Amino acid sequence: MKNYIINPMTAAILALSLLLAGAAVGQEHGGDIVYSKPLKSVTFSHKVHVEDKGLICDMCHARTFEMKALSAQENGDFKMQALYDGKYCGACHNGTMAFASNSRCATCHTGVKGYKTQPGEQAAASAH
Ligand code: HEC
Ligand code: HEC
Ligand code: HEC
Repeated sequence: MKNYIINPMTAAILALSLLLAGAAVGQEHGGDIVYSKPLKSVTFSHKVHVEDKGLICDMCHARTFEMKALSAQENGDFKMQALYDGKYCGACHNGTMAFASNSRCATCHTGVKGYKTQPGEQAAASAH
């Protein structure tokens, strides 16, 4: 009978520690990264890639990205051409693994209004 008294308490403690562990994992993955160069517009979400899409750390951190926010933008080639060549985000955003880097501009470039470039109309129209 004693067990029936202890168990709900044990269960509550277990539930709480799982919650805390979950929160800690959420912190560790690096959160949102908002690039400021060359354009201030692109947001990378760890939550989307890791929690929602289930990608593992090594898929990005083995070779493609350092575990340090905004280090990529210190490289002179952190531009669309590099993405089209399969570097950085373009390692996956190539139309096979994930939507292509030459499509859906406003999905990556969030919060930019009326910004224009090559397929300018597309960018401007979708970045409303
Ligand atoms: C889809 C790609 C991707 C995956 C998967 C990924 N990351 Fe990241 N992570 C990035 C990018 C991009 C950056 C920023 C690097 C840069 O700006 O040069 C970053 C940065 C970080 C940072 C630095 C944050 C800061 O504020 O300096 C940490 C820590 C990190 N990641 C941890 C993780 C961990 C742990 C996992 C696995 C649970 C993970 N990441 C999975 C892409 C990814
Ligand atoms: C390891 C592969 C990988 C890398 C590297 C990667 N992504 Fe993704 N990304 C994905 C996948 C897979 C999806 C989900 C499939 C899809 O939407 O086509 C996704 C989805 C997204 C989305 C859509 C989010 C949503 O809410 O639907 C955005 C925005 C995005 N990625 C931005 C970026 C940016 C910016 C970078 C580089 C800093 C990057 N990704 C690097 C694999 C990757
Ligand atoms: C997968 C995410 C992603 C998609 C899709 C994407 N971009 Fe980008 N873009 C980036 C990243 C990352 C950078 C470099 C960081 C920054 O400038 O904030 C960048 C930079 C740029 C730049 C400045 C550097 C350069 O190459 O001249 C322009 C202009 C640009 N993007 C236009 C576009 C247009 C137009 C589209 C759609 C045809 C597009 N982007 C789609 C992620 C993306």
